[in-house]
Amino acid sequence: MLDKKYRDEAIAISKHDLSSLPRTVGWESPSNIALVKYWGKKGFQEPINPSISMTLSNMHTQTRIHYARARNDQGRMWLRFNGMDNHPFGQRIQKYINSLATYFPFLKKLDLHIDTRNSFPHSAGMASSASAMSSLALAICSIEQGLREDPLTTEHFSQKASYMARLGSGSAARSIYGNYVEWGQHAYGSDEFAHPYAKKIREPLSFLHDSVLITSTEPKKMKSSSGHELMDQHPYRQARIGQALSNMEKISRSLRDGDFHSFSEVAEEEALSLHALMLASRPGYTLLRQATIEIIDELRSFRQETGAEVTFTLDAGPNVHVLYPTREKERIREWMNQKLKPLCEHGKMLHDFTGTGPERLHNGPS
Ligand code: DP6
Repeated sequence: MLDKKYRDEAIAISKHDLSSLPRTVGWESPSNIALVKYWGKKGFQEPINPSISMTLSNMHTQTRIHYARARNDQGRMWLRFNGMDNHPFGQRIQKYINSLATYFPFLKKLDLHIDTRNSFPHSAGMASSASAMSSLALAICSIEQGLREDPLTTEHFSQKASYMARLGSGSAARSIYGNYVEWGQHAYGSDEFAHPYAKKIREPLSFLHDSVLITSTEPKKMKSSSGHELMDQHPYRQARIGQALSNMEKISRSLRDGDFHSFSEVAEEEALSLHALMLASRPGYTLLRQATIEIIDELRSFRQETGAEVTFTLDAGPNVHVLYPTREKERIREWMNQKLKPLCEHGKMLHDFTGTGPERLHNGPS
């Protein structure tokens, strides 16, 4: 639906005179952690089931693009990722930007100097595609916005950025907004772009801490894109779609009621189901580590003994995201330092919390 609209408007914009360049655009965009997981694709980069995530704050990517009209309109691209010219992730970024030429034909006429850097180490075993691809999508949409005779409203700008971010990495579609964000069709919503969760959220769920316990920094044995592919023929595919749909409803009720207990049930069921799906794929595999399981066991015993409001989720990797409200912060941090830190690789934990979404960068080092 939007594909045609964006292609049609691309032609009109590409006719514009680019002579007033060079310029710089920059965006800082956060990572997000899914509570109901996107796992499996259909069509072109659309999800087989809806998902909901919480946007983070400290873990983000800053992308700046310096652009100028190229000589003879033969645009070239220079890329720096985390200060390195030839980083392997740079190739994925390059491929992504080339793929966007259908929607942004003017890109081919520009020399692009792209500088993208994460606030967290690439080697920390943290997925960076959501923040990286969303910051790139925002920067490219901002270049276009500057060329438009009819600039998009904030709402349509974000929607377009979410659509474009999705083409780079599905989870990146959700990083365009703050707080809780949904993506994928269910009772409402779209598979093409994400939207902010609009209903009222009760305490303590409107703001949560997310401490990421790093259990391994080794490169993953199986990329997410390959994991998604295995869902095409997965024996539990239909059951998984049904589970995600009902968990979307359940988590929505938890947010409305501020019910931490039922929120935890969904978060944990989703995390463990994601990894169960990997185990039951053909071929099966696991990204779980011994320390991952130990941390989950510790967390459940601690919760049983103390009644603390604490839960966890997992990404497509072995690190554990420990989620808790501010009123629990003191005792949870103390317990984590004592019991969980020793289970982490080099005692590494990254503390984050609910974030408000991307921000445009107006100046600063380039
Ligand atoms: C387990 O967004 O990394 O984190 O679209 O192939 O880039 P691609 O996959 P990606 O998959 C994320 C999967 C997940 C769950 C989620 O974020 O919803």
